[in-house]
Amino acid sequence: MANEHEKEAVARASLSFIQDGQVVGIGTGSTAACFIQLLGERVKNGLRIRGVPTSDRSREQAASLGIAITTLDECPEIDVTVDGADEVDPQLRLIKGGGGALLREKIVASASKQVVIIADSTKRVPMLGKFGLPVEVIKFARAVVQKKIEALGARVSLRHDGNKPYRTDEDNYILDCHFGEIADPERLARQLSDMPGIVEHGLFIGMASVVLVAEGNEVVELRRRR
Ligand code: A5P
Repeated sequence: MANEHEKEAVARASLSFIQDGQVVGIGTGSTAACFIQLLGERVKNGLRIRGVPTSDRSREQAASLGIAITTLDECPEIDVTVDGADEVDPQLRLIKGGGGALLREKIVASASKQVVIIADSTKRVPMLGKFGLPVEVIKFARAVVQKKIEALGARVSLRHDGNKPYRTDEDNYILDCHFGEIADPERLARQLSDMPGIVEHGLFIGMASVVLVAEGNEVVELRRRR
């Protein structure tokens, strides 16, 4: 399957996890955008759900398709979230944040009873880390945090949007941190969470309930062992 077909196939498969009346976390990125498109079609055909988007752009897309939008203030418990990922390892640990929405994505995932990750075949990796790990940092702390992450062995670059630093929906910066293979993602997650100035990092550990990944012409369902 070509990449775009894979994204559509996994997005379509994720619809079976959504039921009438649910509160649905709506992810961000190109795979999530396929999901939003298909969800919009279901809503036009009568499905009643309320969506909590993980970014301004997903909210705009969802609203434009007639999907009812709600907030975490109104609905702090989400039934199911569907989102993409940049990398998925065999333990269903993820790197997310390539699209810059990792902070809201992690908050929405943490409030969800079930998190369904949809991924094309390129996202499946034996070890996390080839994809630069996105780390959201407050502007004031950028240089300090960058130095500390470099001391952990990463090559770090400030994400740009044209010639200006990229700003997240929460108005923070993103550092893309190239560690190479991350031998111990849990340890790195703890080290990053302990650094003042880091708002959130893109390691999602123990969060995915199900990963729907394209493999050949099929969609394979992977579940985390408890
Ligand atoms: C957005 O911040 C990300 O976490 C995306 O879910 C991730 O980057 C995957 O994006 P694509 O579906 O565009 O590859």
